[in-house]
Amino acid sequence: MSVLEMENIDVTYERRDHVKLKAVVGASLSIDRGQIVGLVGESGCGKSSLARAAVGLVAPTAGRVRFEGEDVAALTRRARPRALTRLQLVFQNPYSSLNPRRRVGEQIADGLTGDSGRRAGRSRRVGELLELVGLSAAAAQRYPSQFSGGQRQRIAIARALAADPSLIVLDEPLASLDASAQAQVANLLVELSRELSLGLLLISHDLAIVRHTAHAVSVMYLGRIVETGPTREVWSAPLHPYTEALIAAVPRPDGSGTMPEALPGEVPDPARPPTGCRFHPRCPHRFSRCPEEEPELEPAFPARTVACWLPRDATPSPPSRRRAHTAAATTTNDSSTSSSHEEGVMPTHKGGTA
Ligand SMILES: Nc1ncnc2c1ncn2[C@@H]1O[C@H](COP(=O)(O)OP(=O)(O)OP(=O)(O)O)[C@@H](O)[C@H]1O
Ligand code: SF4
Ligand SMILES: [Mg+2]
Repeated sequence: MSVLEMENIDVTYERRDHVKLKAVVGASLSIDRGQIVGLVGESGCGKSSLARAAVGLVAPTAGRVRFEGEDVAALTRRARPRALTRLQLVFQNPYSSLNPRRRVGEQIADGLTGDSGRRAGRSRRVGELLELVGLSAAAAQRYPSQFSGGQRQRIAIARALAADPSLIVLDEPLASLDASAQAQVANLLVELSRELSLGLLLISHDLAIVRHTAHAVSVMYLGRIVETGPTREVWSAPLHPYTEALIAAVPRPDGSGTMPEALPGEVPDPARPPTGCRFHPRCPHRFSRCPEEEPELEPAFPARTVACWLPRDATPSPPSRRRAHTAAATTTNDSSTSSSHEEGVMPTHKGGTA
């Protein structure tokens, strides 16, 4: 059974100018114990909003979130229900989420529950948790400022582990770290997930990180999930033109290197999303149907879903390899169709994917 299930989630904000903005639209996602699910997409596409809905920090305006079979209600001033302490959140910047004036050990001990919460066992358990994340038990006596960024993120992970979670939502946990610390913390997450049978929702705008750690990936564009599937399969044969462009933006074929913050072409205002397929103003494969009707996320191949009107081959293949179909489709009466070199339209990569 899935430890976290999110069904048709909408998250709507009211901006200062009173305009309503749908940051998440109809998103569904599920995570099993021991599974790492990556959530990727450009800045502002709604990843953190979906994460906040998962842990009850924002109330979805539509849809349902269930954790270990129980409905997750948005947090109120009352104490977080005990069952929900097993659902933890780790933020991007460990320095701002740790109190600089308290010893690391005290902050980890705050999260202890059950028997380990009794005084006698607390310091022993804190030491074990520090060792579990690759630090020494003696680190408990030190303050956050005495650690590097990567070590502080390990401390934040140890604090989340103190509650004996079955799922941790990690919102850009590696973004503030240098490249070597990123790799070490990413490896730690993979080990912890495997050893503790821990579900992880790993949010990143960097597909390269997700490729190395996640079993499955969901790709988000302007509030909607546009593609899901096993990471390796999505990487080798993306079905959605946006996923294909994201992968093409990773600098090196082995998936290393930092992806640009944003891809070519302007991201539309989420308060006024384009008609039809939200991606159509930037899509090199768009055709007449695209600005007219919005494609739903539908099963495409086993364990894979995609929201795109492009015809599919018998086996998964990226849109740029489906040029014959696309060319046929674009010969329909479509005045908006243009070459992929048009300004604001993302180029497709020529050599296919690794
Ligand atoms: N509290 C809020 N009030 C109004 N708008 C918001 C609020 N929080 C987020 N937004 C808007 O909702 C959209 C989605 O934001 P969100 O933070 O979820 O994106 P993101 O994918 O996490 O981006 P990033 O990669 O930069 O962290 C953005 O347009 C953002 O400006
Ligand atoms: S081909 Fe059409 S439906 Fe598919 S991503 Fe491009 S614009 Fe959207
Ligand atoms: Mg975010």
